[in-house]
Amino acid sequence: MMKIERLRSVDSTNEYIKKYIQNREDVAVFADVQTGGKGTKGRSFLSDMGGVYFSALTFYADMGAANSFRIMTHAAVSVCSTARELGIEPEIKWPNDIRAGGRKLSGILIENGLKGDRVDFSIVGIGINVRNDVSALKGIAVSMKELLPDPPSVEAVKQSLLNNYCRPSTLEEYLSFVHFLGEEIDVSEGEERYTATASRILPDGRLEVIKGSKVRILTSAEISLR
Ligand code: BTN
Repeated sequence: MMKIERLRSVDSTNEYIKKYIQNREDVAVFADVQTGGKGTKGRSFLSDMGGVYFSALTFYADMGAANSFRIMTHAAVSVCSTARELGIEPEIKWPNDIRAGGRKLSGILIENGLKGDRVDFSIVGIGINVRNDVSALKGIAVSMKELLPDPPSVEAVKQSLLNNYCRPSTLEEYLSFVHFLGEEIDVSEGEERYTATASRILPDGRLEVIKGSKVRILTSAEISLR
């Protein structure tokens, strides 16, 4: 079992955990509140009391950078298994949002430390809306308390997340939570906006879509589900 630190308030658990990189030892951090929660693409992540804010620092002996998608799938499966255990049916919006009832229940931010073509360590940051109020993000985000008549305690969600994070996961489990393949999606790739059909997720994590008669492979394009 890795070392776990619990904090009341911190700017960002992903930032805070970086001080442990020099120790080269796996560790996880939970915070009750974040004052500077970070999202992907330089965005912020609403992090009021009542949510779960978690980061894990993991060192790898032999993780090729080409396999780094598995870090993401593992994180997503941990969150989805946690949601399901607590009575919510989650869905993965590629690559890293966990949604329920069409809104975002959880976000994942991964920062990898590379050494040549290897991943030396990863920082996996997970935020889950449990009892916090996300009404400021109207229609975009959702909290467990809106989905369940008797929502779990923040502590119960932390415990479940930790258990799921500490067990291995498979790519098949990840794919079992992906429901948009075969559907029309809106893609915004840099400046470009278009509609395409999602066809499959490749083993390295890229998304294959069909646009007209052409196949396109997306890495970090934004997609929106209909
Ligand atoms: C996203 O949806 O854009 C990613 C959000 C990631 C939020 C989590 S909360 C714990 C960890 N610390 C942060 O500052 N961000 C991640």
